[in-house]
Amino acid sequence: MAMIIDGKKISNDIKEELKEQVANLKREGITISLAVVQVGNDPASTVYVGNKKKACEFVGIQSLSYELPESTTEKELLELVHKLNQDPAVNGILVQLPLPKHMDENKIIQAISPAKDVDGFHPQSVGALSIGQNGFVSCTPAGILELLKRTGITIEGKECVIIGRSNIVGKPMGMLMLRENATVTICHSRTKDLKEVARRADILIVAIGKAKFVTKEYVKEGAVIIDVGMNRDENNKLCGDVDYEDVIEKVSAITPVPGGVGPMTIAMLMNNCVRSAIMHQKES
Ligand code: GUN
Repeated sequence: MAMIIDGKKISNDIKEELKEQVANLKREGITISLAVVQVGNDPASTVYVGNKKKACEFVGIQSLSYELPESTTEKELLELVHKLNQDPAVNGILVQLPLPKHMDENKIIQAISPAKDVDGFHPQSVGALSIGQNGFVSCTPAGILELLKRTGITIEGKECVIIGRSNIVGKPMGMLMLRENATVTICHSRTKDLKEVARRADILIVAIGKAKFVTKEYVKEGAVIIDVGMNRDENNKLCGDVDYEDVIEKVSAITPVPGGVGPMTIAMLMNNCVRSAIMHQKES
């Protein structure tokens, strides 16, 4: 019987632990605040941002809301980021992506101080992860690692195959699994014999954004499957990048969609905010 990895429960456990830690920090006079910036009103972004603010409230982190109109210029957004960088009361800065088309996302990400980059998207954060130095780790990969660890799945020495090479999931995930001593393969749209490569995996992580793409032909008997996808199927029902029903008999463990990887991203964002506040305290 496959183990269903309960991301909702694990993320709730983490948030409870953080809540206690935040309360202890408060007693020492340390308060934590996250600046959440949204430009425009993309409906999906509004839902994500709302969930992040709710999690802040639960954990005891103050969220500072910046809701800017679609017409905001790149210069105005850069000015806001600079102001937040310099504000000692702000521990973390989150600029919700995607940004409107008239802005250069990379330019905005690079303007965020690496010391407040709780999303882990700044080139310095990504570089630090690649060479094993301290820095913020992108929240979805960090959440996946935490899921594996808290489920008791051994990583060291395992064959880990990642399908998808995005900057916010696939690439940092590869670096994290390498740091944990897995043997790592990152696949993408030009990979030859993808099924054959995927079938090597003891741990298969799928982040390609294609509904039910991975079927049992991609899966080795007894593999652990991590499904990062969040799509709608032909009946408008939420589904992952993995065809859950098709692979379930073959796997030893799997994350469901919804309720697997998704809730972990926000839990790790909260974790990064707490780490940031502790770091700032040590520096001041
Ligand atoms: N858009 C979708 N996911 C994310 C995320 O994790 N962080 C930010 N800043 N924007 C996103």
